[in-house]
Amino acid sequence: MGNKRRYYTKLICIFFTVTAALGSEYSSSTQFISTNQSITGTQTIVSSPEKFRLGFFSPANPINRYVGIWFNNVPGPTVVWVANRHNPLQDSSGVLKIGDDGNLVLVAGRNNVFWTSNVSTSTATINSRAQLLSTGNLVLQETINGSETIVWQSFDHPSNVFLPNMTFVVNKKTGEKRVITSWKDTENDPSTGNFTLELDPTGIPQSIIMDHGYGNQQRRYWRSIPTNLNGFRILTNNTAGSVYLTLDYSEERNILEKYTLTSDGNFVETQWNEGRKEWVEVWSAKYSKCDIYDRCGTFGSCNALDSSICSCLRGFVPKSFGEWSNGNWSGGCVRRTELQCVNRSKNETGGDEKNVSRSTISGGKEEADGFLKLENMKVPDFVERGEAGSAEECTLKCLQNCSCLACSYDRNVGCMWWSRDLVDVQRFGNLSQAGVELYIKVAHSELGTKKDHKIFIIMGVVIGIAVISLCTFFCWRRC
Ligand SMILES: *[C@@H]1O[C@H](CO)[C@@H](O)[C@H](O)[C@H]1NC(C)=O
Ligand SMILES: *[C@@H]1O[C@H](CO)[C@@H](O)[C@H](O)[C@H]1NC(C)=O
Ligand SMILES: *[C@@H]1O[C@H](CO)[C@@H](O)[C@H](O)[C@H]1NC(C)=O
Ligand SMILES: *[C@@H]1O[C@H](CO)[C@@H](O)[C@H](O)[C@H]1NC(C)=O
Ligand SMILES: *[C@@H]1O[C@H](CO)[C@@H](O)[C@H](O)[C@H]1NC(C)=O
Ligand SMILES: *[C@@H]1O[C@H](CO)[C@@H](O)[C@H](O)[C@H]1NC(C)=O
Ligand SMILES: *[C@@H]1O[C@H](CO)[C@@H](O)[C@H](O)[C@H]1NC(C)=O
Ligand SMILES: *[C@@H]1O[C@H](CO)[C@@H](O)[C@H](O)[C@H]1NC(C)=O
Repeated sequence: MGNKRRYYTKLICIFFTVTAALGSEYSSSTQFISTNQSITGTQTIVSSPEKFRLGFFSPANPINRYVGIWFNNVPGPTVVWVANRHNPLQDSSGVLKIGDDGNLVLVAGRNNVFWTSNVSTSTATINSRAQLLSTGNLVLQETINGSETIVWQSFDHPSNVFLPNMTFVVNKKTGEKRVITSWKDTENDPSTGNFTLELDPTGIPQSIIMDHGYGNQQRRYWRSIPTNLNGFRILTNNTAGSVYLTLDYSEERNILEKYTLTSDGNFVETQWNEGRKEWVEVWSAKYSKCDIYDRCGTFGSCNALDSSICSCLRGFVPKSFGEWSNGNWSGGCVRRTELQCVNRSKNETGGDEKNVSRSTISGGKEEADGFLKLENMKVPDFVERGEAGSAEECTLKCLQNCSCLACSYDRNVGCMWWSRDLVDVQRFGNLSQAGVELYIKVAHSELGTKKDHKIFIIMGVVIGIAVISLCTFFCWRRC
């Protein structure tokens, strides 16, 4: 304990030394921007305690200047927020001040507005002031009749960094949605990059990274695990129709940390290591090749430890053997044996009965479908919430409902099930990525067949010897 305390005291000393050294770069610093107090040139404002600093900075390209927030005690600067990311200043001019309308504005030249907080403020704006909080949040406050209200805050308009105590909201009713947007170049260019991190509020809420690098189309690039949020918390307010993603902030936890959405679509948690004087990666979204969304196609499963990372889920075969054997997994897999219980709302006959057993159609006596249990899995995307209080009830209900294709039960999340084609499934080879047990519904004939010998004989008869050798090849690769 004593040692630890001494260590911390030492750390704090180092912090102050660094602060003092860095401080000399800046001509003056204040706590507020007010009607009487603007900043320009090398002037800055600092938070109290002095964890963050706001001022003008230039990334590698020294012509472009931005107003931003960075860690006060870290050389760099390590920027966590940028005001005028789309509209850089081109020279050393520029003043950040409270404008006539009470907004925080960045102006240069003949009152050209480069950036504004752009909120409607009350007419009594003489009392607006901006302050940088210890969390790194820049807030614009208005004092009306002696009471202060926050009218704008930078945490509501994040750049490419998520900081503890930031809250992300998605509102299904109002359409309000906050996103983090990558820089075009994580080091040098703060303008909008290809990726956003957002919250997907449908089903069981999860965070996702979207890739916007395809024109108007956007694609999922990564998604979190609904059962393991790496310290993040997701809160739901059903009355308001909103879902929040947040990360708790603790003043006592004297750690400088940040989550950065990089320009190549990774979301990386780093902590400042004072001894090594560098940011150290603690966690990252793209942990393995399998973390890229939908790596193995529909009904495929990815395992980063396998030499060929993609395989079909048990009971499924590649849709196209040719593509699959060339390492093109995008076509995914298809069911080898149809389920007895098929969901006919998928328009076979347009009948009004939802769940029909094939045995009743054909009049035959087929045995009931069952589940294959897969362990340590990342659950598929498009999860729905099932109403069940236990794992047994969850699987039973899934079995009884023909539209349910798979289910899983997690103590914290409850019963999850899937009625759409299963995508983005992963088997964790590494125990540090805690997966869950996933139950996949398959036809009776697929149950208990360990090596699937029968199947290959049938295939052989139907398709011929050439395919057989391919199958055997795959079976050999997989087993
Ligand atoms: C601004 O400065 C004027 C005088 O220069 C002073 O009377 C006023 O109180 C100041 N306002 C604030 C908010 O500091
Ligand atoms: C301010 O916001 C309004 C809409 O809320 C928008 O039309 C306008 O372009 C914005 N102005 C600036 C300078 O960003
Ligand atoms: C502020 O106080 C004045 C008089 O006390 C009152 O007329 C006015 O409505 C108040 N404004 C607000 C926004 O509360
Ligand atoms: C974190 O944010 C909440 C509001 O979302 C606020 O009430 C709280 O004071 C903040 N914590 C710190 C340490 O600033
Ligand atoms: C964005 O995506 C497009 C298309 O994939 C790519 O050409 C471009 O280089 C990407 N931009 C960045 C900054 O990565
Ligand atoms: C949920 O939203 C409603 C309406 O905006 C609000 O009145 C209520 O306080 C919120 N509940 C919680 C727990 O935040
Ligand atoms: C992979 O297969 C898909 C069809 O499943 C096809 O559209 C695509 O062009 C193929 N990609 C390559 C690189 O061959
Ligand atoms: C199902 O049938 C409805 C109406 O009969 C039609 O609008 C819909 O496109 C069909 N869906 C599929 C997947 O075929």
